[in-house]
Amino acid sequence: MDSQAAPDGVDPNVPNVARMYDYYLDGKDNFAADRAAAEQILKLFPETRDSARENRAFLSRAVRHLVESGVRQIVDLGSGLPTQGNTHEVAHGIAPDTRVIYVDYDPVVCAHGRALLADGENITIVQADARDPEKLLVALREHVDFDRPVAFLMLAILHFIPDESSDGAGAYEIVQRLYEASAPGSYLVLSHAIDAKPDTTPEALEIYNRATAALSLRTHAEITRFFDGYELVEPGLVFPKDWRPDDQPLIGAESTSIGYSGVGRKP
Ligand SMILES: C[S@@+](CC[C@H](N)C(=O)[O-])C[C@H]1O[C@@H](n2cnc3c(N)ncnc32)[C@H](O)[C@@H]1O
Repeated sequence: MDSQAAPDGVDPNVPNVARMYDYYLDGKDNFAADRAAAEQILKLFPETRDSARENRAFLSRAVRHLVESGVRQIVDLGSGLPTQGNTHEVAHGIAPDTRVIYVDYDPVVCAHGRALLADGENITIVQADARDPEKLLVALREHVDFDRPVAFLMLAILHFIPDESSDGAGAYEIVQRLYEASAPGSYLVLSHAIDAKPDTTPEALEIYNRATAALSLRTHAEITRFFDGYELVEPGLVFPKDWRPDDQPLIGAESTSIGYSGVGRKP
């Protein structure tokens, strides 16, 4: 994108985490500052591009699992810029009556979402900040029947939210609040970055510190804690490529995962 295309209130000179991720995925919805920061990350972690694609492939397999298990309401929280294999495309390919609610706090993400997706049936875009879970739940109640199972997708978002934050609720509190609000049979789907290369990580953290959201990397045990109260479905919290792989060829021969992913069901 040309930075002149930046909507009011959006500073195209500050690298934006949604648009950096779009760049990793070869998208076109990014500005020069996003591309420069993303290139710095790719120098430090060349596997980021494959990891982003593996994350999207995990999303597809997880959504397929949810819909085949009977879930008909999916909230994609921190949904990011529209890309290939969006949640509603996967869900509606199996069950067109699945209600998909995309939520992001980023105005550019929501504007693109509305332009590209909002014509579709059973698709809603909500602009909301996950760090205010009460307000988020009020907004969601317009679209979600909380007496029925709902799946919360939180892919590559929680590592942008610290345990405690002066900007609102911390990551564990948010997940806990969504758990409490949801009916038995609801799901939590997570993917989360880890400290994959401790020698290189500090430089990467610096880059994200200058972007719109800093990184809070967590360990396997710390990510597992998000599933408190849920039953992790097989195979548990694993590298995205190892979560119920299908017959698609592996993404990137050299690919090293820089995060974990998992699916939990509320009993
Ligand atoms: C790396 S992208 C992930 C996109 C998509 N979930 C995926 O995994 O392919 C992270 C997204 O989370 C959004 N995000 C970060 N913090 C958020 C918050 N507090 N509330 C809502 N969205 C947030 C960003 O705007 C961005 O679109």
